[in-house]
Amino acid sequence: MQAARRQPVPHTPIWFMRQAGRSLPEYRALRAGVGMLESCRRPDLVAEITMQPVRRHGVDAAIFFSDIVVPVAAVGLDIDIVAGVGPVVADPIRTWKDLERLPELTPQDIPDITESVRLLVAELGDTPLIGFAGAPFTLASYLVEGGPSRNHLLTKALMHGDPQLWNALCARLAQISATFLEVQIAAGASAVQLFDSWAGACSRADYERYVRPHSAAVLAAVGELGVPRIHFGVGTGELLASMAQAGADVVGVDYRVALPDAIARVGTSYAVQGNLDPALLFAPWEALERETRRIVAQGLSAPGHIFNLGHGVLPETDPDVLTRLVDLVHECSAR
Ligand code: CP3
Repeated sequence: MQAARRQPVPHTPIWFMRQAGRSLPEYRALRAGVGMLESCRRPDLVAEITMQPVRRHGVDAAIFFSDIVVPVAAVGLDIDIVAGVGPVVADPIRTWKDLERLPELTPQDIPDITESVRLLVAELGDTPLIGFAGAPFTLASYLVEGGPSRNHLLTKALMHGDPQLWNALCARLAQISATFLEVQIAAGASAVQLFDSWAGACSRADYERYVRPHSAAVLAAVGELGVPRIHFGVGTGELLASMAQAGADVVGVDYRVALPDAIARVGTSYAVQGNLDPALLFAPWEALERETRRIVAQGLSAPGHIFNLGHGVLPETDPDVLTRLVDLVHECSAR
């Protein structure tokens, strides 16, 4: 929390995107026979799964176990998360009529989220809980394409072909994501991360015109609640400065951009988060250690640095390597 607020820290803090999940045998055991979306709606499971990596690795933050599509499922959209594929929408959203199937989210739709966060905050003690939501563009891509997409063809065609409908869809998604975050914060989340994972697929001009205003609406709504906001996307080297201006406190950096370049692009008003290549977790320890020490040292020139991967933990990752990495970052960054 201090790093996110650009205050002095005793050591560089570290957590991992996707720290909860398939890299952990205890996660795979708990999830056996339980669907992904169902597991996100059961407070006992959410709390246990969120705690698992905190206990095992000693990371400096918990990330709420949920998914970016949980709130759109909560308003009644027919969506599922298919193992090995990702979110799949039975009947995609492509017309004004389709948009009627996506009503606004109210806190009454997600009492389980409040309960899960409360359970977690009680168990976590001093360790902060990071809440999260998906940004409108990334969510819209799943809803318009009907599932994961490499080229976001239908999404971009809609954005350019019918900007009014595009903006109406994204405004609705911004309302849904903002409410999802507000509920988590009201129940005790200490910070939030807005994931715009696929924003890097957009040109800077398209991003600023069709994407950022909607992310900015989410971040502004949450900003009134006073918790630090982290904003992250993949392949966003060309967009980093623009993304920061969406209203983040911390800019998430993927592994394709060197941290000093990222810091130069976003300027000195933002903390940064990142950015070890998750593939390095499969390299010999000496290579991983060298890269980690380099990133920790580079982070010192930002006004705040939270160590993380440049994207999520891959399911095949050896969890013992993650634990060792946490110890290394704490030790080599001790002030
Ligand atoms: O530890 C954490 O980071 C918290 C949990 C978390 C999940 N999803 C759980 C999950 C978070 C932060 C997300 C966000 C999310 N979901 C994003 C943005 C982050 C990113 O990765 O860029 C996106 C794009 C999604 C959509 C989604 N959900 C995908 C692409 C997948 C993977 C499908 C697969 O099976 O490979 C999911 C499913 C999902 N969400 C899993 C987890 C742990 C895996 C499903 C399982 O364990 O059965």
